[in-house]
Amino acid sequence: MLPLIRCLGAAGGEADAADLYDRVAREIGASAEVREAKASFAGDERNLFDRQVRHAQQLAKTKGLIAAHARGRWTLTDRGLGLLENARPGVVMTVFETRQGLAIWGHVEDAAAIIEPGSVSTIYTSPPYPIQTAKPYGGIDTASWISWMLDLVDLWKPLLAPGGSLFMNLGAEVYRRGAPYQSTYLERFVPAVEDRCGFQLAQRWYWDNPHKLGSIQWVSIRRRRLRQTVEPIYWWINEVNGIQDQANNRAVLQPYAEKTLKRYIGQDRSDEARVKPSGIDIGAHAFAKDNGGAIPSTVLRSANSASNDPYRRACRNAGIAPHPATFPASLPERAILMTTRPGDIVCDPFFGSGTVGQVAERLGRRWIGIERSRLYLDSARLRFSETAAA
Ligand SMILES: C[S@@+](CC[C@H](N)C(=O)[O-])C[C@H]1O[C@@H](n2cnc3c(N)ncnc32)[C@H](O)[C@@H]1O
Repeated sequence: MLPLIRCLGAAGGEADAADLYDRVAREIGASAEVREAKASFAGDERNLFDRQVRHAQQLAKTKGLIAAHARGRWTLTDRGLGLLENARPGVVMTVFETRQGLAIWGHVEDAAAIIEPGSVSTIYTSPPYPIQTAKPYGGIDTASWISWMLDLVDLWKPLLAPGGSLFMNLGAEVYRRGAPYQSTYLERFVPAVEDRCGFQLAQRWYWDNPHKLGSIQWVSIRRRRLRQTVEPIYWWINEVNGIQDQANNRAVLQPYAEKTLKRYIGQDRSDEARVKPSGIDIGAHAFAKDNGGAIPSTVLRSANSASNDPYRRACRNAGIAPHPATFPASLPERAILMTTRPGDIVCDPFFGSGTVGQVAERLGRRWIGIERSRLYLDSARLRFSETAAA
């Protein structure tokens, strides 16, 4: 199975089943005799080597390492990638550096030890999502996820400066296996971040991804639920000795809408327009002052389906599988602008493809990324191809 997984990795994470036979033969140095050997099964002559590879494919599929696609293509799953290139527990290595950042290969639990306490202004991250009932070979169930994540939040707290921010983009759509009922694990996790770890909830933000399909089973096939396009982003503050955050929404103002500019800015309101339907008189000058832009809402709408963005293009050119679960740059951008200043340190302990690092670098912040998969880090490096040093 391992040569098959390696071949899929070398092929960029995806390949035709038919191509894999020859690739695997080359990988293990099979002789022509072994490659061509045939035997008769129920009157049919079959290639024994191909049969063996098909057997490995089925085994890898049942172990969740690869997935079958239409037209006879196979893809490496996250778990398959992990098997290939995950850091060994206890080993922490810098894989590349940029002018302002450091990409560390290691497990999140180990890498925290090399970060200076109190040095991080903002942590922005999206951990792997749990599944309600984990299969024996993969994924993490919700109860274990909560206890793992609370241990991590405890570990991160001393790394954050007093008043520092912790943002976590968490999956809300976790179904019970075999039933259209959702897990309430977030409702159990969120209070514990306050009660056990001592953080204060600053706000709940939401990422609305209008193209998100939702659960294939319960939304698309069985039509029992709606498409869930919104995910929460929890924003907590590390309030220590009464030191609060210095977040500033002036850093993220949006251009006024055309209608607002015409109707309100610089205009006094007529007597009728002063009084809202609720009966409240908002005054003649309400909204007349130009404050430099509109204050964004807590909902950030952004699709995440750009198959041809510079990161994916660079991956294709380099023959590396792109990360399957990146978030759009606009999510960390808003958080970083609001909660940090140039030169401050931003950390993403589940770095993936390095979206947070790239945004931090562009905004003149320093950054630290931690990721256990070497393949993902190799792909992240492509985001910084002009500045990264090995
Ligand atoms: C949801 S992805 C993050 C994607 C990232 N936000 C982006 O835009 O590319 C979560 C990442 O956490 C990594 N990961 C999972 N468990 C880890 C651990 N124990 N230590 C370090 N990284 C881990 C996975 O390999 C995966 O790349």
